[in-house]
Amino acid sequence: MIGKLLISICMIGLTTAALTVDAAKHCECTELTQTDCGAALSYCLWNSSDSECQEFNLECSDLNTQITCDAFSSCKWKDGACDDWTPSCSDGTTVALCRNINGCYWNKSNQCASFSTCADYSVEECPENQFCTAQSGSCAAYQFVTCSSFTTSQTCTGFDTQTSQCAWANDNTCKSVKSGSSCADLSNFTNLCNNSGSCTYEGSACRSIKCSDLPIEQACNFVFTSDTSFTLCAWANGACADAADTSAYTQTTCYQRTFGNYKWTSDNKCLACDDLVSNDMDSNQLILGAFALLLVLLE
Ligand SMILES: *[C@@H]1O[C@H](CO)[C@@H](O)[C@H](O)[C@H]1NC(C)=O
Ligand SMILES: *[C@@H]1O[C@H](CO)[C@@H](O)[C@H](O)[C@H]1NC(C)=O
Ligand SMILES: *[C@@H]1O[C@H](CO)[C@@H](O)[C@H](O)[C@H]1NC(C)=O
Ligand SMILES: *[C@@H]1O[C@H](CO)[C@@H](O)[C@H](O)[C@H]1NC(C)=O
Repeated sequence: MIGKLLISICMIGLTTAALTVDAAKHCECTELTQTDCGAALSYCLWNSSDSECQEFNLECSDLNTQITCDAFSSCKWKDGACDDWTPSCSDGTTVALCRNINGCYWNKSNQCASFSTCADYSVEECPENQFCTAQSGSCAAYQFVTCSSFTTSQTCTGFDTQTSQCAWANDNTCKSVKSGSSCADLSNFTNLCNNSGSCTYEGSACRSIKCSDLPIEQACNFVFTSDTSFTLCAWANGACADAADTSAYTQTTCYQRTFGNYKWTSDNKCLACDDLVSNDMDSNQLILGAFALLLVLLE
């Protein structure tokens, strides 16, 4: 719950030359060795005939049997061919199918439709992402709370609007905190700051966690910087610090611990990729990508 509040975060100072990586990007497939190509399964595929890592672009139309085609929720077999398909609520003819269609819910009349009102749903199909709750034993609208009405830290809980929650403040009152608050915004909420997972309280301020805050080697991997960017950490002399280089990475950790921004080279180095490409692709490609190896084996 608390973690969700902390999407955005304060920028850290510009004093260090830390290594940062962008989790929204990955190395261009053609730069990768076979091992890294395998780790980039959603985006890349190893072509064994010319020993090269290739960009994936398997599409519905490449699937030539009904069984493999219909295995993907974004493809549909029609007239002997596999077509791209965007299901609508009316395609959700069973509760299981309905649950997999974006923005559609299975209502009490056993029909799949866009959201109406909480009372139209059973306890099992109560749409919590629409601020419905089944806590009372039936599906009903979530009752927003008034933070200032709570007088103890134990009772200070719940949403007061769709985008803010109550939190116990340092002046021992219950206050509203916006979703997506930065660490700096939590300086009057020591508990929330400390429990957030990405912020820590120091002096009288809340700040984002640094590599040097990570107490053990197993946790010393990276810290969140901003948006989709992360700073790499390295363990040295019994402490975690900003990584100065990637010399500590191995063939198995290089690509994965850098969110796919660095590659393992044939002369055994972990180097930044020359070209990074966005992870965003149309959802068809992404889903197909993840299963492509399996299909290659099946067909
Ligand atoms: C693998 O590479 C060869 C040679 O470039 C090419 O002809 C073939 O189509 C590739 N295979 C796939 C599955 O893309
Ligand atoms: C369920 O959805 C159908 C289709 O939109 C609608 O006609 C029906 O009234 C809904 N039932 C309930 C209980 O909301
Ligand atoms: C923290 O509380 C003090 C005193 O109530 C207030 O002046 C200050 O603006 C608050 N700081 C933040 C970041 O909300
Ligand atoms: C918050 O964390 C800091 C640093 O670990 C610690 O000094 C402080 O006592 C903690 N405060 C609370 C209220 O947990």
